[in-house]
Amino acid sequence: MPHADTSLVPDSIETKSEFWTHVHDQLEILMGGQRHWVSNLSNAASLIYSSLQAFPSNFGDGERSVNWCGFYLISSLFPQPRFTDDASMDPKSQTHASANILLGPFSGKPACQWIEVSPRPRGVCGDAFVKRSTILVPDVLTYPGHIACDGDTKSEIVCPLILRKGGEDIVLGVLDLDCLAIGGFDVDDQVGLERIVALIIRSCDW
Ligand code: SME
Repeated sequence: MPHADTSLVPDSIETKSEFWTHVHDQLEILMGGQRHWVSNLSNAASLIYSSLQAFPSNFGDGERSVNWCGFYLISSLFPQPRFTDDASMDPKSQTHASANILLGPFSGKPACQWIEVSPRPRGVCGDAFVKRSTILVPDVLTYPGHIACDGDTKSEIVCPLILRKGGEDIVLGVLDLDCLAIGGFDVDDQVGLERIVALIIRSCDW
C-alpha cells in the first residue's frame, strides 16, 4: 500500500472514537521499524492533519477544518552545530536555547519558531507544557495569552508529550492542533490524541 493511503478514512468510520482508533493504528504501521523522532513525528503530523482533512464530520456541519497540526519540542532534542566555529552558533550562547520549546515537524502554514516556557510560559502550548496536561480551547479569543500564529484559527487543543524514565516524568514538548471553527475539538479528540501521543512516546528513542 502506498504510504499516502494511510491517511484515507474509510466510509465505515462514523464516530470520533472510531476515527482516532483508525489514525492510531495507521500511525503504528507507519512508524514500524523506525525509532527516530524526526521521521516519526513528521509522519505523525502529516497523518493526523491529512486524516482530519479527510474526515470533516469530525468538526460537525459547515465550513470547518483543521488548519495546523504539529509539535513544539525541547531544544536539547534538536541537532547541535557540528561543522562551524562560529561562537554565535554555540547552543549555550543562544538566548532562546533553554527557555523555549522549538518548532518541530508539522503540517499546515508556517508557524512561530519557538515558544517561551520559562521563566514565563506563553500561549496555550507554553501552558500545556508547564502544567503537563492537555488544554482544550474552544475559542482562542477568550484564552489569555493565546499566540495567534494564524489569524484564521478559532479553536485549539494542545497535548503534552511526557516521557516516564527512571520514575521521573520528562516533558519533551507538545502536540498542537488548530481548527478554523469555534469549538472544533472536544473530549473525544483529547482521548484520541492522548492515546496517539502515548504511542509516539514509546515508539521513539529519545
Ligand atoms: N496558538 C499556539 C501557538 C502555536 S500555533 O498555533 C501553531 C499557542 O497559543 O501556544
